[in-house]
Amino acid sequence: MAPDKFILAVLVSGQGSNLQAIIDSIEKNDLSAEIALVVSNVKDTYALERAHKHGLESIFLDPKSYPDRNGYEQALVERIQSKSVNLICLAGFMRVLGNHFIETFSGRIINIHPSLLPAFPGLRVQKRALEHGARFSGCTVHYVNEEVDGGPIILQTVVPIYDNDNEASLSKRILEQEHIAYPEAIQLIIEDRLTLSGRRVLHNK
Ligand code: GRF
Repeated sequence: MAPDKFILAVLVSGQGSNLQAIIDSIEKNDLSAEIALVVSNVKDTYALERAHKHGLESIFLDPKSYPDRNGYEQALVERIQSKSVNLICLAGFMRVLGNHFIETFSGRIINIHPSLLPAFPGLRVQKRALEHGARFSGCTVHYVNEEVDGGPIILQTVVPIYDNDNEASLSKRILEQEHIAYPEAIQLIIEDRLTLSGRRVLHNK
């Protein structure tokens, strides 16, 4: 049976449209979760404003206030642990997480990425898919491990690439699908419907 309250932390760096999609799904009762904490590593992001508008606890955790990456990640770990979080959702969080963070929350961190992984990991991936001449791209929700954009794949949605697409138009269509896929993936985890078999994530009925 799914727990009454499934607690999320959402890590952001930018506009926060995926955060918004998660908030909306919770408010519509499509997602049986609660966001206990939103953390941004960038000051004054629109994502933080969205959190504020919905009365969510949110913080800007400034990497520059810590002597090194370990110090920063330890602070992040402590903030998240203080909220008894079940799942950490990276939603446009533009910072590579180190081993300490990943091991502390092993199997409980997920990310959304705007390509069909393992094609096009990294940055500016819509532009790279176009330049490569791919006919399809999409989005991927995956578990986070120590390899950047390399963890086991939970869900993917395919988005066709049209001849008249540019980076902006393709990004927009992929983002629309991200907003559907991310809450869906989170709900699969809440309902305990995923089983890891090697690199494969099997979906139980
Ligand atoms: C999305 O395209 C996501 O896949 C990528 O960063 C972007 C974040 O967008 N990781 P937003 O901040 O959620 O609007």
